[in-house]
Amino acid sequence: MHKDKPSKTARKVALNIVTLGAKPETAKVLPAGIVDSTAELLVASGAVGETGVRWSRSPRMVSVYEAFDWMMPGQFEAFAYRKAFCEEQVRDGIAAGATQVLVLGAGYDTLGWRLAAKFADVHFFEIDHPATARLKAKGIEAMGSQRNLHLISEDLGERGLVDVLEVDESWDRHARTVIVAEGLVMYLPEAAVQDLFVQCAAIIGAESRIAFSYIPTAEDGRPDAGRYTGLVLWILKAGGEPWLWSIRPEELGSFLQRCGWASSPELKVSMEKRGVELYAVAIKSR
Ligand SMILES: C[S@@+](CC[C@H](N)C(=O)[O-])C[C@H]1O[C@@H](n2cnc3c(N)ncnc32)[C@H](O)[C@@H]1O
Repeated sequence: MHKDKPSKTARKVALNIVTLGAKPETAKVLPAGIVDSTAELLVASGAVGETGVRWSRSPRMVSVYEAFDWMMPGQFEAFAYRKAFCEEQVRDGIAAGATQVLVLGAGYDTLGWRLAAKFADVHFFEIDHPATARLKAKGIEAMGSQRNLHLISEDLGERGLVDVLEVDESWDRHARTVIVAEGLVMYLPEAAVQDLFVQCAAIIGAESRIAFSYIPTAEDGRPDAGRYTGLVLWILKAGGEPWLWSIRPEELGSFLQRCGWASSPELKVSMEKRGVELYAVAIKSR
């Protein structure tokens, strides 16, 4: 990605969420409060103007997204399911005793801001690339900062997660934690993904979990974006945020094991494909 420019894909996901709120079927799937808070954040951060957000909230915009859905069928609606999946994992984790939540590559996601107000005893951390984190911080400040919401501006390609969190006085490496890596790992090279999972496991307490989305690998070895994979990969690359990592679902278990994580039968692991992505959750190996 362009180091000095805010993430375009993060902005796109956030605008999609706002528009999904204008479609009754997906409005029901989205976590409560996400549409209004995302719309507010986009404007308050300066990432999108008021007119752009107003347009995104209109049912006409739903038709526009649906008209373009041929390129990655189902991906527009999939963002609603992805947000619902991640929030469910966070809420389940907190109900099971987690006292920390870490959202990696958070973009304009509002989970931390919304839930920090509800769970005063849980510390929420977000990390994003400085160019995007700067805008996010501006927006959150305007919407109301919270004592238990910690926004960290860091390029995880340049500095390891352990190094970043170790010096953070609010971070407790022994606490049960829920980590969310939504729409992130496909943008990192294989070695960085492996390193990220290893570092995640090294900086959290027992019984912690990680929820993430990923792109499956196609027969030809490329990330599988469906029928128009070549076009999709080209557009992403031309936009400066190419997909670099994917994995075959049947190889995910052993990959996670090598990184210090295990799939857990008690936790919901969705092998169902929504749009072009799959969702997964793993717990820290003993
Ligand atoms: C597709 S967006 C997803 C945003 C958010 N997770 C969501 O789903 O709404 C990917 C995010 O990962 C962040 N990201 C990509 N590479 C990163 C890096 N090396 N360090 C920190 N953040 C990074 C981008 O800035 C962007 O916000």
